[in-house]
Amino acid sequence: MEDEKRIILTGFMGVGKTTVAKHLAHMLDCERLDLDSMIVDSEHRTIAEIIEQEGLDKFRQIETAQLRRILESKARIVALGGGAWTIEENRRLIKAHNFTTVWLESSFEHCWLNISASKRVRPLARNKGDARRLFEERQKVYCLADWHFIVKPELNSFEVAKRIAEEIFFYEFN
Ligand code: S3P
Repeated sequence: MEDEKRIILTGFMGVGKTTVAKHLAHMLDCERLDLDSMIVDSEHRTIAEIIEQEGLDKFRQIETAQLRRILESKARIVALGGGAWTIEENRRLIKAHNFTTVWLESSFEHCWLNISASKRVRPLARNKGDARRLFEERQKVYCLADWHFIVKPELNSFEVAKRIAEEIFFYEFN
């Protein structure tokens, strides 16, 4: 992979971070980790259960602890949960580990469509009004990422990953 670059994907719930990360890691033949999956595996509970049982503050502590593990690992492609990048300590850790951050941006309606279609319970997006408020509030923090990719509804996750591979890793497809 081009000069060993390591990538963090951030963006709102439902934008497709996990799936784009899977395609990207496959294309570039490198290790990938997913922060939410790491949390679920280590806690043996779903994210919704953790937030319901322990509260959001405790969830954020667990999230930061797992993020530290990921940053110390060999993974080169990392998908965050939608709130991880909004925490200042996490942003500081990510920068200190020399990751390149990529914000996958889409319209709220596009994210909401995916959130509503998904079976996963997202405690911070239980209704459209709350989700929209969170979406708007977070735009100014997501835009602190190094790169910014607009995920148009007509692009599928593979195509988004392909553009990231071409533009950030100068990857050439035959
Ligand atoms: C969250 C997003 C979720 C998950 C948790 C909190 C957020 O991840 O980490 O429910 O604060 O936006 P996804 O972005 O993968 O849905």
